[in-house]
Amino acid sequence: MSSVDSKLYQYAVQEAQAAVDLDEKGHYRQALNKYQRAAEILIQFVQYNKNPIMVRKCHDQIEQYINRANVLKAHLSGPRARKGKPSMGTSAAKDSEGKGEEGQYSAEEQEIIDSISGTILEESPNVKWNDIAGLKTSKQALREAIVLPIMKPKLFTGARKPWSGILLFGPPGCGKTLLARAAATECEATFFSVSSADLLSKWLGESEKLISSLFKVARIKAPSLIFMDEIDSVATKRGEGHEGGGERRVKTQLLSEIQGIKSGSKKPLLVLGATNRPWDIDAAMLSRFEKKVYVPLPDLTARIGIFKIHTAGINMALTEEDFIELGVRSEGYSGRDISNVCREVIMLPIRELDMGGLLENSYQEVVVRDLNLKDFAKTLKKVKPMTTNTALNQYEQWAKEFGEL
Ligand SMILES: Nc1ncnc2c1ncn2[C@@H]1O[C@H](COP(=O)(O)OP(=O)(O)OP(=O)(O)O)[C@@H](O)[C@H]1O
Ligand SMILES: [Mg+2]
Repeated sequence: MSSVDSKLYQYAVQEAQAAVDLDEKGHYRQALNKYQRAAEILIQFVQYNKNPIMVRKCHDQIEQYINRANVLKAHLSGPRARKGKPSMGTSAAKDSEGKGEEGQYSAEEQEIIDSISGTILEESPNVKWNDIAGLKTSKQALREAIVLPIMKPKLFTGARKPWSGILLFGPPGCGKTLLARAAATECEATFFSVSSADLLSKWLGESEKLISSLFKVARIKAPSLIFMDEIDSVATKRGEGHEGGGERRVKTQLLSEIQGIKSGSKKPLLVLGATNRPWDIDAAMLSRFEKKVYVPLPDLTARIGIFKIHTAGINMALTEEDFIELGVRSEGYSGRDISNVCREVIMLPIRELDMGGLLENSYQEVVVRDLNLKDFAKTLKKVKPMTTNTALNQYEQWAKEFGEL
């Protein structure tokens, strides 16, 4: 296996192990997420692996994880099943006494919790601050606005109240979603991740009930962090006048829930929104997000860091000066652009081996050559940055007017 492959495989094994541990402890919802994740990673892994024995083994594992995830999903959404532990079926986990997170709520609370499971993702994201290069100011702002109020609520009493709504805004692919996940990981709050576009499309009609249940569950499970990605799609002002009654009601419901947080309980419940179209958000919603945090394009040091993060574990013949050179050449690129460049470059030596017919018979180890500066330079010319100067000005203008610059 090349080092990319083996890393991916190890990652899947790690996720599966975590799933089994959580499953044994009765944390079924988190276990479900981990099984799904492990299966997803293995599905990616088999696409690149040409060793038939390995591929067969992985298919078995994928099937096992998906089966177990399905059993857990049925258990979590079934009205009766929740009392006991889910049957093991073709389980990936060992049998154990099912005493876990389900036991601690009243029947009524459990009912509401069940009503959102399967639709709104409740997960432990497992992103560390160090996985995110640069963005020092944005990280510090999130620590103050989210991590500290949740971890040290006593510091935030009296006039020093936490902001109940925080908005991350900035160009696409610059780390908004990553930052939200890192903040959630650090503060160990219950993390609810809602895609706002989904709120409108998938569950139209059910959306209001869902939002109300979401906030109820978040209160029950507080301290909680509700992350609403792409918030512009629910809170848009573009559609004003044209939007359907459904959309308007969803927006109104959201506004009143966010407003309601302030007068809520002692345990913190925070709403974190993210958008790359802040100017589309209507004024009422914008005013609920008292704290606005700009997540800009990465600067030189951040770009160097992103190149390093996205080539970790790969054999490279690059010096520190080469990395600086990459940082300089990638001005204007977002983190996602750089990550795309790295993915292309990392595949180059594999593609060369494959085109040379050297992977056909891959029972024996193949030697993958080191990456060099030329590989990156070539790819940087091909993969262009997504953010235009005009767009960048628009963000900076908006940040000056509403955010923190
Ligand atoms: N500062 C960074 N450090 C490391 N990786 C980064 C950074 N910024 C972006 N990336 C990479 O780019 C990808 C996209 O980042 P992310 O999803 O956080 O962007 P976003 O700001 O939420 O974009 P969008 O507005 O499109 O939702 C990440 O998964 C990561 O691989
Ligand atoms: Mg995002």
